[in-house]
Amino acid sequence: MKLRTTVMRKTSLLAIMVSCAIVAPAHAADGAQGGNAQAGKGKVSMCIGCHGIPDYKTAFPEVYRVPMIAGQNAKYIENALNAYKKGERSHPSMDAIAGSLSDQDIADIAAYYANLK
Ligand code: HEC
Repeated sequence: MKLRTTVMRKTSLLAIMVSCAIVAPAHAADGAQGGNAQAGKGKVSMCIGCHGIPDYKTAFPEVYRVPMIAGQNAKYIENALNAYKKGERSHPSMDAIAGSLSDQDIADIAAYYANLK
């Protein structure tokens, strides 16, 4: 009986994961205001090494101690990137990266990560 419950739990967890994988691309299309999640997807290649691989974000807390940004609120991501860009917040890697992004890049990236669950 106990074994059966565990198997069923694992199966339903798998079903949830699979359905998320199917739903995710549809979600990515309707980005946050101002930002375009689809455009953002093409701009995050340099974030992946530290902030995890899109659609496979489990790799990172063990490998890097980097904050989780996938699924984070778009406004929060935008504010954080702008803070690094303006020097209000400071971190060697993030300062350089945020400084290289335009306002549109930031909006698109924020929309992309906000939709990445
Ligand atoms: C070299 C590794 C590295 C790369 C590449 C990188 N980041 Fe980061 N990022 C970090 C680290 C480390 C922090 C935490 C810094 C701190 O404590 O202020 C951080 C913090 C952040 C935060 C703030 C998160 C929070 O919860 O406050 C955001 C948003 C962010 N990064 C977005 C990005 C985006 C978008 C990209 C790509 C354009 C990117 N990062 C690329 C290492 C990286």
